[in-house]
Amino acid sequence: MKTLKIEPVTRIEGHAKVTIQVDDDGHVTDAQLHVTQVRGFEKFTEGRPFYEMPAITARICGICPVSHLLASVKACDAIMAVEIPETAALLRELLHCGQFVQSHALSFFHLSAPDLLLGMDSDPARRNVLGLVEQHPERARDGIALRKFGQQVIEWLAGERIHPAWTVPGGVNAPLIAETRDRIRAGLPAAKVIAHRTLDFFKGVVDQFGEEIANFGNAPTLYAGLVDSSGSFQLYDGRLRFRGPEGNIVADQIGGRQYARYIGETTLPTSYLKAPYYRPMGYPDGIYRVGPLGRLNAADRCGTPEADAEFTEFHQRYGRMVESAFHYHYARLIEALYALERMEALLEDPAIVDTHVRAHAGVNALEGVGMVEAPRGVLIHHYKVDEKGAIRWANLIVATGHNNLAMNQSVRQVSQHFIDGNHLREGMLNRVSAVIRAFDPCLSCSTHAAGMPHVSIHLLAADGTLLDEIRS
Ligand code: MG
Ligand code: NI
Repeated sequence: MKTLKIEPVTRIEGHAKVTIQVDDDGHVTDAQLHVTQVRGFEKFTEGRPFYEMPAITARICGICPVSHLLASVKACDAIMAVEIPETAALLRELLHCGQFVQSHALSFFHLSAPDLLLGMDSDPARRNVLGLVEQHPERARDGIALRKFGQQVIEWLAGERIHPAWTVPGGVNAPLIAETRDRIRAGLPAAKVIAHRTLDFFKGVVDQFGEEIANFGNAPTLYAGLVDSSGSFQLYDGRLRFRGPEGNIVADQIGGRQYARYIGETTLPTSYLKAPYYRPMGYPDGIYRVGPLGRLNAADRCGTPEADAEFTEFHQRYGRMVESAFHYHYARLIEALYALERMEALLEDPAIVDTHVRAHAGVNALEGVGMVEAPRGVLIHHYKVDEKGAIRWANLIVATGHNNLAMNQSVRQVSQHFIDGNHLREGMLNRVSAVIRAFDPCLSCSTHAAGMPHVSIHLLAADGTLLDEIRS
């Protein structure tokens, strides 16, 4: 028996390792994803005033600071027991849409397009964003422009790209001025053209990846996402729904305070990253997926016209429940379009420039939960405070955690299908990295550690001998 490790899985955010065991005939017997670092974030916030949590938690991750800010301020709103002004909710959602656009553009164009456009088996030295710029300059330009637009929206609203302090408990700390509204509006048509052009391009090539579609985490699981009372998906303020593999809704309209009844968390011996599961089904049967595919499977519709046309086509093409993790890419592009349409709608609302944007209050509840859809999936911040508002206990469940069991299942499936330990080629291992990239995990969030993406793949023999290793 041999074991193969992939370390680091490149082009994802954070640090992780994949270990693949092969027998003497070169067949894969098992494979695991290990997340290798941990910072004990939840412990170190104990004793801090609750209102500092948004700024502290935004530093967990350089990639998703806006998502942590929003989950955190919602938990703080709950501790203050306030309903934030309507305009503040609109503005937070607008900021969130900017985050979706920039994050989905990063994932699709910068991290996964090299596999999709240059080929899973292409020269790894050129299978990156620079290779993309050389060989598909128009696609690379689109990716850069779309990401930049999302980043600009965040910057125009919140003042700086990383760790914006504009989002505060009770609302936001400054209203939107008409000039900024008009600047965002002016950029939307070009961004939407890119979103449509990319979707059209992707729909034209996706079925060339038949073998990947069939084997990239293509197995039934539950799916989870936030929806409104009509079943449309909600990125900022919905309630949690779980839908089963046959399309049946198994739980719906779960508020933040009820999450622990539905989500259990276990630890895996192979990883620091906790593994949440759907509690009514227990571990390990209660495996579920979040993020773009989770949301498009859980919801009944997006709720904006152009994204809904794409939503309908997506499900007509691949069924009501789309199982292959490869389709995270397709779902992500539909969501980028949705986020742009949602921005349009939010900016058309006259209330968006209202100046009442913040509620002030002290501690009125000793516990608060904030739940949002981060680009990568449901993000939960849960705090308990003392009478003075000092944090006594905190629990964070990040998107990548929800997907932990499913990513492991997918890594096993891809390894067993593509890897031949006797005739190892780089492209086989790249597919293991690629299925992880399809989920777009944020390992910075998962480990609560800052840093650049690193995952490695190790192929090991039964006796533990390292047979091969990839760190591209
Ligand atoms: Mg946690
Ligand atoms: Ni992150």
